[in-house]
Amino acid sequence: MTVDYDLLGRQLVGLAETDNDPLALSANFVALLSAAMPAINWLGIYVARGEDLVLGPFQGLPACVRIPLGQGVCGTAAVSRESLRVADVHEFDGHIACDPASNSELVVPLIADGRLLGVLDIDSPLPARFTADDQAGVESLCRHFVEQIGRAGTGFI
Ligand code: SME
Repeated sequence: MTVDYDLLGRQLVGLAETDNDPLALSANFVALLSAAMPAINWLGIYVARGEDLVLGPFQGLPACVRIPLGQGVCGTAAVSRESLRVADVHEFDGHIACDPASNSELVVPLIADGRLLGVLDIDSPLPARFTADDQAGVESLCRHFVEQIGRAGTGFI
Protein backbone atom coordinates (compact mmCIF):
# COMPACT_ATOMS: atom_id res chain seq x y z
CA MET A 1 0.00 0.00 0.00
CA THR A 2 2.68 2.47 -0.98
CA VAL A 3 1.78 5.99 -2.03
CA ASP A 4 4.11 8.15 -4.15
CA TYR A 5 4.18 11.23 -1.92
CA ASP A 6 6.88 12.93 -4.04
CA LEU A 7 4.63 12.70 -7.10
CA LEU A 8 1.65 14.00 -5.10
CA GLY A 9 3.79 16.92 -3.91
CA ARG A 10 4.63 17.83 -7.50
CA GLN A 11 0.98 17.49 -8.51
CA LEU A 12 -0.07 19.73 -5.63
CA VAL A 13 2.43 22.42 -6.62
CA GLY A 14 1.16 22.08 -10.20
CA LEU A 15 -2.42 22.65 -9.04
CA ALA A 16 -1.34 25.72 -7.07
CA GLU A 17 0.47 27.15 -10.11
CA THR A 18 -2.84 27.19 -11.97
CA ASP A 19 -4.66 28.99 -9.15
CA ASN A 20 -3.70 29.00 -5.47
CA ASP A 21 -6.96 30.33 -4.04
CA PRO A 22 -6.86 28.75 -0.53
CA LEU A 23 -10.39 27.31 -0.62
CA ALA A 24 -10.00 25.79 -4.10
CA LEU A 25 -6.53 24.46 -3.33
CA SER A 26 -7.76 22.92 -0.06
CA ALA A 27 -10.56 21.12 -1.90
CA ASN A 28 -8.18 19.89 -4.60
CA PHE A 29 -5.55 18.83 -2.05
CA VAL A 30 -8.12 16.69 -0.25
CA ALA A 31 -9.39 15.20 -3.53
CA LEU A 32 -5.86 14.49 -4.81
CA LEU A 33 -4.69 12.71 -1.67
CA SER A 34 -7.97 10.88 -1.13
CA ALA A 35 -7.86 9.42 -4.65
CA ALA A 36 -4.25 8.28 -4.16
CA MET A 37 -4.55 6.59 -0.75
CA PRO A 38 -5.88 3.04 -0.67
CA ALA A 39 -8.01 1.74 2.20
CA ILE A 40 -9.28 5.01 3.65
CA ASN A 41 -12.89 5.96 4.38
CA TRP A 42 -12.53 9.66 5.26
CA LEU A 43 -10.01 12.38 4.50
CA GLY A 44 -10.42 16.08 5.12
CA ILE A 45 -9.35 19.36 6.66
CA TYR A 46 -10.56 20.84 9.93
CA VAL A 47 -9.92 24.59 10.03
CA ALA A 48 -8.83 26.37 13.25
CA ARG A 49 -11.48 28.90 14.26
CA GLY A 50 -10.96 30.38 17.72
CA GLU A 51 -11.05 27.57 20.27
CA ASP A 52 -12.49 25.04 17.81
CA LEU A 53 -11.64 23.10 14.69
CA VAL A 54 -14.40 23.46 12.11
CA LEU A 55 -15.11 21.05 9.28
CA GLY A 56 -13.65 22.10 5.93
CA PRO A 57 -13.23 20.37 2.55
CA PHE A 58 -13.36 16.57 2.84
CA GLN A 59 -14.11 13.30 1.07
CA GLY A 60 -16.24 10.76 2.92
CA LEU A 61 -19.45 10.62 4.93
CA PRO A 62 -20.82 13.76 6.62
CA ALA A 63 -18.76 14.36 9.78
CA CYS A 64 -18.74 16.25 13.08
CA VAL A 65 -18.76 19.97 12.32
CA ARG A 66 -16.91 21.30 15.36
CA ILE A 67 -14.14 19.78 17.49
CA PRO A 68 -12.89 21.79 20.50
CA LEU A 69 -9.09 22.20 20.63
CA GLY A 70 -7.68 19.50 22.88
CA GLN A 71 -10.48 17.01 22.19
CA GLY A 72 -10.40 13.89 20.03
CA VAL A 73 -7.44 12.85 17.91
CA CYS A 74 -7.75 16.04 15.82
CA GLY A 75 -7.91 18.45 18.75
CA THR A 76 -5.05 16.66 20.54
CA ALA A 77 -2.79 16.87 17.47
CA ALA A 78 -3.76 20.52 16.98
CA VAL A 79 -2.77 21.49 20.54
CA SER A 80 0.48 19.49 20.52
CA ARG A 81 1.25 20.67 16.97
CA GLU A 82 2.63 17.19 16.30
CA SER A 83 1.17 14.65 13.92
CA LEU A 84 -0.64 11.75 15.55
CA ARG A 85 -0.74 8.22 14.10
CA VAL A 86 -3.29 6.07 15.92
CA ALA A 87 -3.24 2.33 15.18
CA ASP A 88 -6.54 1.64 16.99
CA VAL A 89 -8.86 4.60 17.52
CA HIS A 90 -10.93 2.60 20.02
CA GLU A 91 -7.90 2.61 22.33
CA PHE A 92 -7.49 6.41 22.06
CA ASP A 93 -8.99 8.13 25.09
CA GLY A 94 -11.48 10.74 23.85
CA HIS A 95 -11.56 9.62 20.22
CA ILE A 96 -14.54 11.19 18.42
CA ALA A 97 -16.28 8.61 16.24
CA CYS A 98 -17.71 10.39 13.20
CA ASP A 99 -17.73 7.35 10.93
CA PRO A 100 -18.15 4.06 12.83
CA ALA A 101 -16.19 2.33 10.06
CA SER A 102 -12.97 4.06 11.15
CA ASN A 103 -10.42 1.94 12.99
CA SER A 104 -7.13 3.82 12.54
CA GLU A 105 -6.35 7.46 11.98
CA LEU A 106 -3.58 9.89 10.99
CA VAL A 107 -3.83 13.59 11.88
CA VAL A 108 -1.28 16.18 10.73
CA PRO A 109 -1.42 19.79 11.99
CA LEU A 110 -1.21 22.55 9.36
CA ILE A 111 1.16 25.21 10.69
CA ALA A 112 2.18 28.41 8.88
CA ASP A 113 4.77 30.73 10.43
CA GLY A 114 4.02 29.32 13.86
CA ARG A 115 0.25 29.75 13.44
CA LEU A 116 -2.16 26.78 13.55
CA LEU A 117 -4.31 26.83 10.39
CA GLY A 118 -6.03 23.53 11.09
CA VAL A 119 -5.40 19.80 10.70
CA LEU A 120 -5.56 17.21 7.97
CA ASP A 121 -7.41 14.12 9.22
CA ILE A 122 -7.33 10.70 7.52
CA ASP A 123 -9.37 7.69 8.69
CA SER A 124 -9.10 4.06 7.65
CA PRO A 125 -11.35 1.05 8.26
CA LEU A 126 -8.18 -1.07 8.61
CA PRO A 127 -6.47 -1.30 11.99
CA ALA A 128 -2.92 0.16 11.90
CA ARG A 129 -3.41 1.28 8.28
CA PHE A 130 -0.85 4.10 8.45
CA THR A 131 2.90 3.46 8.52
CA ALA A 132 5.70 5.75 9.64
CA ASP A 133 6.38 6.31 5.93
CA ASP A 134 2.76 7.47 5.44
CA GLN A 135 3.14 9.82 8.39
CA ALA A 136 6.36 11.34 7.00
CA GLY A 137 4.91 11.51 3.47
CA VAL A 138 1.68 13.21 4.56
CA GLU A 139 3.64 15.62 6.79
CA SER A 140 5.76 16.59 3.79
CA LEU A 141 2.67 17.07 1.61
CA CYS A 142 1.08 19.23 4.29
CA ARG A 143 4.20 21.43 4.36
CA HIS A 144 3.89 21.87 0.55
CA PHE A 145 0.20 22.66 0.98
CA VAL A 146 0.81 25.30 3.65
CA GLU A 147 3.56 26.91 1.54
CA GLN A 148 1.19 27.19 -1.42
CA ILE A 149 -1.57 28.63 0.78
CA GLY A 150 0.95 31.13 2.15
CA ARG A 151 1.83 32.26 -1.38
CA ALA A 152 -1.80 33.28 -1.93
CA GLY A 153 -1.33 35.86 0.86
CA THR A 154 -5.08 35.97 1.51
CA GLY A 155 -5.24 33.86 4.67
CA PHE A 156 -6.78 30.42 5.00
CA ILE A 157 -10.29 29.29 4.08
N1 SME B 1 -11.95 10.99 14.79
C1 SME B 1 -11.70 12.40 14.86
C2 SME B 1 -12.94 13.20 14.54
C3 SME B 1 -13.06 13.56 13.12
S1 SME B 1 -13.62 12.31 12.17
O1 SME B 1 -12.72 11.17 12.24
C4 SME B 1 -13.85 12.79 10.60
C5 SME B 1 -11.17 12.78 16.23
O2 SME B 1 -11.18 11.95 17.16
O3 SME B 1 -10.75 13.93 16.40
